[in-house]
Amino acid sequence: MFYQIYPRSYACAGSSQGVGDLRGIIDRLDHVVGLGVDAVWLSPVFCSPQVDHGYDVSDYYAIDPIFGTMADFDELLQAAHDRGLRVLLDMVPNHTSDQHAWFTAAVAAGRGARERDWYLFRDGRGADGAVPPTDVLGSFTQTPVWTRVTEPDGTPGQWYFHLFTAEQPDLNWLNPAVLAAFEQIWRFWLDKGVDGFRVDVADHLTKDVDRNDVRFGNDLLTHDADNRTHEVLRALRSTLRGYEHQPTAIGEIWSGGASYSSDDEFPQTFGFPILKAGWDAPALRAAIQEVLADTEPVWVIDNHDTPRSASRLGPARSRALTLLMLGLPGAACLYQGQELGLPNVDDLPDEVLADPVWQRSGGTDRGRDGCRVPLPWSGSQPPFGFCDDEVEPWLPQPPQFAGFTVESQRRDPTSTLELTRRWLGVRKQLVGAGFQWRDEAPDRVHFQRPTDTGTIDVLMNLGDTSIALPPGRILAHSDPKPPDGWLPPDAAVWWEV
Ligand code: GLC
Repeated sequence: MFYQIYPRSYACAGSSQGVGDLRGIIDRLDHVVGLGVDAVWLSPVFCSPQVDHGYDVSDYYAIDPIFGTMADFDELLQAAHDRGLRVLLDMVPNHTSDQHAWFTAAVAAGRGARERDWYLFRDGRGADGAVPPTDVLGSFTQTPVWTRVTEPDGTPGQWYFHLFTAEQPDLNWLNPAVLAAFEQIWRFWLDKGVDGFRVDVADHLTKDVDRNDVRFGNDLLTHDADNRTHEVLRALRSTLRGYEHQPTAIGEIWSGGASYSSDDEFPQTFGFPILKAGWDAPALRAAIQEVLADTEPVWVIDNHDTPRSASRLGPARSRALTLLMLGLPGAACLYQGQELGLPNVDDLPDEVLADPVWQRSGGTDRGRDGCRVPLPWSGSQPPFGFCDDEVEPWLPQPPQFAGFTVESQRRDPTSTLELTRRWLGVRKQLVGAGFQWRDEAPDRVHFQRPTDTGTIDVLMNLGDTSIALPPGRILAHSDPKPPDGWLPPDAAVWWEV
């Protein structure tokens, strides 16, 4: 069982800028331990200009001062290990920051230099090279994937490729030097005892940037002819194998995870299809089936890139889908705040929006800040214990967060927090359990998990009317009140026969 910490927004022990930090995580580690998860995944804490909040790394060997020091990280790792909690880092191999020494060297070295070959530089089209190499638009904001540099002699120069913002140049993974550099980075962190990585944009490392016949979005992501991303992932896997503490890696692959998860590539990939399936029983069943057939999933319905399910689906459905997901075979991941039923904040004022998507889209896409608002820990007004009272959190918390604090939910056995804690406890009974589908009615998702000692049924009601429950002992329920023989709409339940 994983728990995703988005460090900027988890807890802040020292920053005057109201940004969460590593010491804040150490101080609040007992919250995660108390939930009963096995591992945390930290969104990137490496040195970064923070254009994309850490997903633009300028030094993979150092901790960004905004989050603390390497000594803080070592202390966090030790504190987590002492409590039986594993720690995964967020590895960002697709691109670096434009402030990374590799990139500044590539620009400084000039056209044709070996250093340029670490990134994807191309000459522009037209007589003076002023037209970008292709017309393709990028993943974030439908803006061009090419940015032109000024050559060392001051003339307008080549263009470099970036799937995301111009400050995130894509690496050239067909250059063996890039792989060698990353193998060293992986080993640096694994030698410290880190328990593995969540791997960002994991399936698009090698790509054909010269093609002009591709469209915005996922279609853009055509691979090189041999799709050598597989070779990169095999190298990652073999690095992991060299360690006795059995580190893992989870691929961020939004579709087609199956072709990258095998004995040689990713041990685990995110089960995103259930996040995308919406509130629809046949679609959810198909999503589950697709993932189970092919991969070792880490099921997920919330993360730092997606509006929170408590708002996307509504609080009751979000709790129900969380409970259903926890009943599926494989691992699962909760995103910080999901255990509180925290809503998305959709009405942040324009002037505080900090996601590059907002600015880069010219204000047409509000971006992902709504799911990244700092957690409410205690008290009745902002900053709700997230940071010192005199400090303003980097994104403002709405007054309604008062009803969602950890402190208030701890006292309430019917709260989402206490329900989640119980679910995670019961979930331990599922280790090694089998899986079989039950009823395929259009208003429900229903499956069974045969265990050594009995059978656990998992049922979610997507219809408009209550469903009669067969006799059995209720083990977990998503409504604050246990069902009394009937499962109401928008609820899920586990029972044992
Ligand atoms: C991944 C991350 C996202 C980031 C993007 C670029 O999708 O989850 O937050 O913006 O990659 O690195």
